[in-house]
Amino acid sequence: MNSVTASGFKSEEVAEKAYKAIREFIYAEAGIDLGPSKHMLVSSRLTKRLRHNKLDSFDAYAEFLINSKPSDIERQMAIDLLTTNETYFFREPEHFETLKKDVLVNHPKDKRFRLWSAASSSGEEAYSIAMVLDDYFGDRVSWEIFGSDISSRIIQKARKGLYQCHRIDAIPRPYLQRYCLKGKGEYDGFLLVDPKLRAKTRFTELNLIKPLPDLGRFDVVFLRNVLIYFDNDTKEKIIRSLASVLRQDGILFIGHSESLKGMDLPLKLIGPTTYQKV
Ligand SMILES: C[S@@+](CC[C@H](N)C(=O)[O-])C[C@H]1O[C@@H](n2cnc3c(N)ncnc32)[C@H](O)[C@@H]1O
Repeated sequence: MNSVTASGFKSEEVAEKAYKAIREFIYAEAGIDLGPSKHMLVSSRLTKRLRHNKLDSFDAYAEFLINSKPSDIERQMAIDLLTTNETYFFREPEHFETLKKDVLVNHPKDKRFRLWSAASSSGEEAYSIAMVLDDYFGDRVSWEIFGSDISSRIIQKARKGLYQCHRIDAIPRPYLQRYCLKGKGEYDGFLLVDPKLRAKTRFTELNLIKPLPDLGRFDVVFLRNVLIYFDNDTKEKIIRSLASVLRQDGILFIGHSESLKGMDLPLKLIGPTTYQKV
């Protein structure tokens, strides 16, 4: 049976066999554990791919997806659509205060400060941090931010640094005035992050469940609001590999609803959802 979504778009029903295949696909590709009953979510996000590929059922789509080559565009499309990219500027603002008060304050002037926004989504987290770093360090300390995400579509958006103005309420006013350019003409209703900050913030597609490329060491890693999608084994593996690129005493921030309880890791809890490498 088909159902009609709020947008008036007809979504196809996902039968159990197809659901199982798609659940296994996204777990193998991204480590995301959909659980046993996200049929509606799968249907609403992927029905358009059925239409695009002129397939008449999720059974046919699941077979098409599973049999596609690793380099096939459909695989990346499905990953892009099955990930949840919800994010906004200055989300969970306490972390930005901790960053300033407990981390930046202790950073030596002669050392480049390096921060990784892992699972950066469309870049709002990385650019929020860039505003804090520029404001705090000025020209005294050199810094760089590395943002990464599994979704290629969302990484392209992050690189542009162009955002709709209706979701910028949390940006502190002085930062808004200093670091955000208001769009005009065809960009009316948009803001562009200052090119000076964009030049120090680069984005790459990166899958956290795969072995990490050589990234160097980081003073801080933000890994927020993504662990909730993984099972415990995957979570532990990811944290272990991220901890390996944190410098000694480096800091890891995770999302406020996430926890590393019960895991044997080279990290100690030093504040709410804030860990230090030991
Ligand atoms: C909800 S967003 C969180 C964005 C930001 N960190 C924040 O807190 O607002 C989660 C992001 O994790 C990404 N993600 C999911 N699985 C991933 C994986 N295996 N490797 C890298 N990124 C992944 C998704 O594409 C999505 O953009």
